[in-house]
Amino acid sequence: MYYGGDYNPEQWPEEVWHDDVARMREAGVNIVTLAVFSWSRIQPAEGVFDFDWLDRIIDLLHEGGIGVDLATATASPPPWMHERYPEILPVTRDGVTLSPGGRQHYAPSSPVYRRLAAELVTAMVERYKDHPAVQMWHLNNEYACHVHADYSDNARDAFRAWLEDRYGTVEALNAAWGTSFWSQRYSSFDQVLPPRIAPASSNPCQMLDFRRFTNDALLQCALMEKEIIRSAGATQPITTNFMGAWPAVDYSAWAPHLDVVSDDAYPDPNDPQSFRAAAFQRDLMRSLKPRTPWLLMEQSSNALNWRPSNAPKAPGQMEALSAQCVGRGADGILFFQWRQSKAGSEKFHSAMLPHAGTGTRTWREIVRLGGMLDSLPTLEPGSPAQVALVFDWENWWALDNPDHPQNRLDYLAVIMRWHAALQRAHIQVDIVPPEKVGGEHRLAIAPLLYLMRDEGAAALEGFVEAGGTLLTGPFSDIVDSRDHFLDGGFLQRLGTMLGITLEDFGALVPRDADEPGEREARVEGAFGDAVGELFAEEIWLDGAEAVATFSSGRRLGNPAVTRAQAGKGSAWYMATVLDDDGCDSLVRHLAETTGVEPVLPDAPSTVDASRRGDVVTLVNFGEDDAVVAVSGTNLITGVEVERMTLAPYEFAFVEQARP
Ligand code: GAL
Repeated sequence: MYYGGDYNPEQWPEEVWHDDVARMREAGVNIVTLAVFSWSRIQPAEGVFDFDWLDRIIDLLHEGGIGVDLATATASPPPWMHERYPEILPVTRDGVTLSPGGRQHYAPSSPVYRRLAAELVTAMVERYKDHPAVQMWHLNNEYACHVHADYSDNARDAFRAWLEDRYGTVEALNAAWGTSFWSQRYSSFDQVLPPRIAPASSNPCQMLDFRRFTNDALLQCALMEKEIIRSAGATQPITTNFMGAWPAVDYSAWAPHLDVVSDDAYPDPNDPQSFRAAAFQRDLMRSLKPRTPWLLMEQSSNALNWRPSNAPKAPGQMEALSAQCVGRGADGILFFQWRQSKAGSEKFHSAMLPHAGTGTRTWREIVRLGGMLDSLPTLEPGSPAQVALVFDWENWWALDNPDHPQNRLDYLAVIMRWHAALQRAHIQVDIVPPEKVGGEHRLAIAPLLYLMRDEGAAALEGFVEAGGTLLTGPFSDIVDSRDHFLDGGFLQRLGTMLGITLEDFGALVPRDADEPGEREARVEGAFGDAVGELFAEEIWLDGAEAVATFSSGRRLGNPAVTRAQAGKGSAWYMATVLDDDGCDSLVRHLAETTGVEPVLPDAPSTVDASRRGDVVTLVNFGEDDAVVAVSGTNLITGVEVERMTLAPYEFAFVEQARP
């Protein structure tokens, strides 16, 4: 188990470094992420490098037995760069040039930024590739954290080249973007722009391609750094820190390029349900690289500084969230940051070693967590799940575009609602794009798959054909990968298998909106009653049976949930977005009928349960004691258990005998 955090020694006089290493040892720290924001210190002027200080701290850490996750330091360009090359700065959709003075002020497509970043990474890797302290390379930092997309002239030129590469001819581009609409036909790639702010909605195909291009431009930056590291002969694993389901970057396309997936997660201590969103994020990380442990690269030891109100974590909450990560596949718990800063934007952000020193609750918890992690045996990577929850970035981007029947859809919130229902039922789940459904999966839940690639549709069909159960809808199988309708209506790929046709989307006014209109549609069905939101689609049975019908509103009496036998499996469709109760009952029903086994058959819904091989992790995120029937060996105490009572934020790792 890795244990440590971001370490920024350049913020401190050298005499503090010795105290840092001593305290790190006291806390059980075995790795620190170094040099994330050190560019201006490492390279005070173009062509001038100062590595002496970095040599000294790396040596000191090494003497103290502490490893280094060495960052490439390219996340915050130094002042000399924009002074000499102002064209590296990114530009917003509204045309505002983002100034330096914060961080991440670079245009990813800027050839100058890339050249200078490459020089820095080359110098770093040449110097440190053989240093025994260096255990990992950390590319940049949180790509697209602040700049979700750059609309500068650098981006314009690179976008044109990207399009030419993708489409070959301008005729093909016109066809893909449907430019006959609104007189948008291009006669040369040189006429194309990023979707900068326009009088009316920008072309949705252009918007979608620009999201793809932005993702690719950032990935190119990362791959450039990776290539430099590998061609210099460095053999340590390479990672970069993800940020959960981040809209700007399709991590499912990034993960195969990395040796280790790592994640930064900051659940809000004020939200008693934030452990559910956290569980979703952990499962996403585990699913990005199956059978490979991931790292929690950043979390906070206590309060943050960047939410409107920054509550402290409750006693034990940080350790409970850390245990949740381990249970859901993490082999390391790291923090932002090691020692709390004395100046700068983040001086109020908590750290492993607080400003108030070692006589604090935070420090005691940090030391206790380090000891606990050190006592754990090696765990298998997360177990493969029997349930797949389909989450797809391209679909998210397409849904995000304006001018849809329902323009207040929050795709991520809907996906997380299904994940929360699975979590309440203690069912382990993989979060994957449609192409990755299959294998161990018995049940696949694919809500709101508006943009469906042909490959994704084929994978879902094959899954059902082979005996799987698919639950999809509403607003699914509407467009192809270009964001075009298919000829013949909606559900053109999955409709036959689902045994239904879809005529109308029946958009509803969101439940909390202050305007007239139908807001919800009641649903009555074999699996229980529920309330539908956002859509009450007009669907017609064409081979399927209605499992539930609408019992209120304009679709009264029409099918709301359907089921059809197809191949060796079955295909379900929902004509609305079900509320929590609806998701809970449907999950229960489908788990029973498909034989999906929960991690624990019977535990309070506020207990987070996950499995790694024979080890079950339980964390009580409820406000009351939770009694859980679980038999095995408590890995922390060594005691055999049959039943456990977990106090709020108490956790346990229980090794069960193999059946
Ligand atoms: C992350 C970032 C860290 C630090 C942290 C504060 O987004 O990578 O450098 O700023 O947030 O929560």
